Amino acid sequence: MQKLIIANWKSNKTQESARQWIRGFTQFLGEHKRERPLPTIVVAPSFLLLGTVKGALGEQSLVQLGAQDVSSFPMGAYTGAVCAASLQDAGAAYVIIGHSERRKYFHETDQDVAAKVRQVVDAGLQPVLCIDEPYLKSQVAALEESLLQKCIVAYEPITAIGTGHGMDVGSVTTVVENIHQLFGATTQVLYGGSVTAANIGEYLLVTDGALVGGASLEVADFTALIAQV
Ligand code: PGA
Repeated sequence: MQKLIIANWKSNKTQESARQWIRGFTQFLGEHKRERPLPTIVVAPSFLLLGTVKGALGEQSLVQLGAQDVSSFPMGAYTGAVCAASLQDAGAAYVIIGHSERRKYFHETDQDVAAKVRQVVDAGLQPVLCIDEPYLKSQVAALEESLLQKCIVAYEPITAIGTGHGMDVGSVTTVVENIHQLFGATTQVLYGGSVTAANIGEYLLVTDGALVGGASLEVADFTALIAQV
């Protein structure tokens, strides 16, 4: 199966730096796409930059668009919220849900996360559900059975995110097995947490892809990483 690499820009970048990144990255892809099959690549900017990134990507389809979050409510009177239908309209195909930073700083509960997965599935988008191992069972328990098979799951140990210390590959392998038991054998599982060009090769031996934060911000770092896939 084609690997999936998601660039999670978090709350970074301006309109201009986002455009520059896309220009640099699509140039790299244009030069290298014939050398070997590319992975599926998703860029997840902040909501405000979705349109900018989509515009900068133009007609090319080597990069897909993702969102970092979504409202747990449908379109309607929910001031400040961005609903799944709006994300779909903006061109997003993937939506990251339940990232540990959302759970920590915005107090998202397992029930909020489950409601967001429902919204995203109903809008025909692909949920990328972030989970962490100690809480795996309770995080999964909140989800309806029918939603489990719709999720791509990202194993994101909080001890590894943004620390420069990725989880050891043996532990990732064990958690991937646990995720398969709960979600189903065919569920795509990503790893996220200090993934770089130097370590992505090892993680891809035991996963279907990666969620990349820090190493996705500079185009040179991200192209180096994609070159390893
Ligand atoms: P990091 O972030 O690559 O900077 O560790 C990963 C993530 O939060 O998804």
